[in-house]
Amino acid sequence: MWTKKHSKKFTKAEHSKEFLRKPHTLKELGNLKGKRLVDIGCGSGYWTRLFAQRGADCTGVDISENQLALARKEEGRKSLGIKYLKGDFTNLKKIKSNRYDIAVIIYALLEIPSKTKINKLFQEAYRILKKGGRLFISDMHPFDPITHARFKLPKGFHYFMSGAKMIAYAKQVDGSLISFKDYHWTFEDYFDSLTKAGFVITSLKEPRPSPSLVKKIPYFKYRIGLPKDITIVCRK
Ligand SMILES: C[S@@+](CC[C@H](N)C(=O)[O-])C[C@H]1O[C@@H](n2cnc3c(N)ncnc32)[C@H](O)[C@@H]1O
Repeated sequence: MWTKKHSKKFTKAEHSKEFLRKPHTLKELGNLKGKRLVDIGCGSGYWTRLFAQRGADCTGVDISENQLALARKEEGRKSLGIKYLKGDFTNLKKIKSNRYDIAVIIYALLEIPSKTKINKLFQEAYRILKKGGRLFISDMHPFDPITHARFKLPKGFHYFMSGAKMIAYAKQVDGSLISFKDYHWTFEDYFDSLTKAGFVITSLKEPRPSPSLVKKIPYFKYRIGLPKDITIVCRK
C-alpha cells in the first residue's frame, strides 16, 4: 500500500489527525522533555517530529522505505535529532531491551494482518520499554466499521469478524479523499494481546469532536454520536 504516491498523499493534512488526534495525543502524553520515545510504525514521521519538537529523544521505526524516505527528508531539511530505523515491528531486533520511557503506536494496528502478529508487536513493545514505561496506542475505534460511515466492507461483515479486510476512506483538509487497506480488530483482540504481553492497561479514551469543533469544522458533523478513535495507555 505504501507506494511513493500513497505515502506522499498521506503527508497532506487529514481532518481527524490534525484537529482531533493531535491535541488529544499531545495532552495525553504530557511533558516529553528528556523522555526517550520510540514511534513504532512511524510512517513519514508526522508524530515523531511533534514529539521531538517537545523535547523527546526520538526513534522512529517503520517497514516502508517510501515512508522512511519522507521522514528522513524532513529530518535532513530541519534536524530534530530523530533516528529512523527500517524494521518489522513484530521483530525489533535492532533495539535493546529496557530502553524507552515511552512507546507509541499510532494508526498502525489496523495494518496488521493477524492476531499472532499483534501479539508479537505488543511483546516487542513490552521488551523495549523500561520498567514502568508507558505504551500509548491511538487507532480507529473498533466500533467505527460497524457504522459503515466511510468503509468498503466484506459481504456479511459484523463486529466479531476479527481480521476482516476493509477499505477505509478519509477526507483530507484540501477536500481530496484518501483510502487505506486495513484489517478489523475488536476491543477483545487488543485487550487480550496487551495483557498477554504483560501490560497493565491504565486508561481508555474515545476522543470525538466537541460541539465547538463541529461548529468550527462542519466536516465533523457526520461524526456526532458516532465512535471515531480510541487511545489506550498501558504500563510495563
Ligand atoms: C497508517 S500509517 C501511520 C503512520 C504514522 N503512525 C502516522 O499516524 O502518521 C501505518 C504505518 O505502519 C507501518 N507498518 C505496517 N506494518 C508494519 C510492520 N510490520 N512493521 C513496521 N511498520 C509497519 C506502515 O509502513 C505505515 O507507515
